[in-house]
Amino acid sequence: MTQDELKALVGRAAVEHVVPGAVVGVGTGSTVNCFIDELAKIKDRIAGAVSSSQKSTERLQAHGIAVLDANQVDSLPVYIDGADEIDHGGHMIKGGGAALTREKIVADMAERFVCIADASKLVQTLGRFPLPVEVIPMASGLVSRRLRALGGQPRVREGVVTDNGNVILDVTGLEIRDPAAMESDINNWPGVVTVGIFARNRAKVCLLGTPEGVRRLD
Ligand code: 5RP
Repeated sequence: MTQDELKALVGRAAVEHVVPGAVVGVGTGSTVNCFIDELAKIKDRIAGAVSSSQKSTERLQAHGIAVLDANQVDSLPVYIDGADEIDHGGHMIKGGGAALTREKIVADMAERFVCIADASKLVQTLGRFPLPVEVIPMASGLVSRRLRALGGQPRVREGVVTDNGNVILDVTGLEIRDPAAMESDINNWPGVVTVGIFARNRAKVCLLGTPEGVRRLD
């Protein structure tokens, strides 16, 4: 099976995790696009969606799915999103699509994060995928120096301005042995909007697409 077929497989499987009658939190990326296309088939059975990016909003609306402002919604039973890397504890690196800040907000609103990914995203230790950090533009030099002091090599992602008007630093060379500690450390630096480590908001369930079918990690 191709990677796209594996993404389609978990996109379909994720629909079973949508709570009928409720609002669903929707992530961003090519795997989530497969999920959105499946969600469209049951759109009359949900109360709408809270979206984590302009791109997902456009796709949801193109299917006629109501997109609600996050501030109109008190809680979400479930948030469904992809990942760039996920470990066996459900900790993730996210932000390959530059949507990490809104993804973390919607994930935090939700009771349950269901991660959907093809099996290539499962790793023993996070860090091979460059860690995205969303930064206020005037702080990119300061934050880059601090990331270098941690042993990473940051690079500004060229041509990318986030939905929030900020830049992304992609950091290679980090071995993330304690995701929760590194998440809270980097998040505390002035100028950092969001670091793409999802440890506090880790996945409760991961649906992994494999050639043998959907493998579920709890
Ligand atoms: C976007 C993300 C995505 O979930 C992540 O990049 C995975 O994307 P894809 O499903 O296209 O592999 O974090 O900011």
